[in-house]
Amino acid sequence: MGKDVIVACDFASAEQVFSFLDKFTGKKPFVKIGMELYYAEGPAIVKEIKARGHKIFLDLKLHDIPNTVKKAMAVLSRLDVDITNLHAAGTKNMMKAALEGLTRPDGSRPLLIAVTQLTSTDQQSMEEDLLIREPIDKVVMHYAKCAEEAGLDGIVCSPLEAGKVHDTCGKSFLTVTPGVRFADGDVGDQKRVMTPAQAKAIGSDYIVVGRPITAAADPVAAYERCVAEFCD
Ligand code: C5P
Repeated sequence: MGKDVIVACDFASAEQVFSFLDKFTGKKPFVKIGMELYYAEGPAIVKEIKARGHKIFLDLKLHDIPNTVKKAMAVLSRLDVDITNLHAAGTKNMMKAALEGLTRPDGSRPLLIAVTQLTSTDQQSMEEDLLIREPIDKVVMHYAKCAEEAGLDGIVCSPLEAGKVHDTCGKSFLTVTPGVRFADGDVGDQKRVMTPAQAKAIGSDYIVVGRPITAAADPVAAYERCVAEFCD
């Protein structure tokens, strides 16, 4: 898979997501399904969106004991998603178990990427709540390295970190980056943002874009603008 724009379909129901996707006549954007939609609609929503011809990033961020994650990943693998993820904080053993669970009998599997530190975690909460006293950027790079050593395909990170992740973990280690905004658009609650063109220049492999597309007056035009800036 090459560079692509993944649309974060953060909707609360199947009805809402289909009315959004129906606007894309003839085009099949890569879709991210998160916890809200998955927990509301269950595995059926994944199968239905897949049957419509979309690639799917299932963003459920698993984090549990290795055996539980392995078994859960085997279920997700049967849903035929293209990318799924977990928390690197679950340790290398958990990540390795996840890869085993995800691998189908024929040896194929969805791409597996890791969340390092959530962007909602800052230095202070990491030190006070998690008792991790290293600088947060060092922690993020360490988790990325652990994910690479466990055999994962990449990480979710800010586009601002994508270059450094490639320097540390190699060019083929995927960087999937949310926090993307148009130069003339609303930033909303995202604090560290980049335009699609900047994310391309810095080497992001996939950008995850939600509200700049889903809340646009013309979502299809906004999607095409992202593709033109990022992929072309
Ligand atoms: O609407 P917006 O473009 O901000 O959506 C970004 C998407 O990426 C959301 O689904 C959000 O949960 C997800 N995400 C993020 N920052 C992270 C990890 C995931 O914004 N660090």
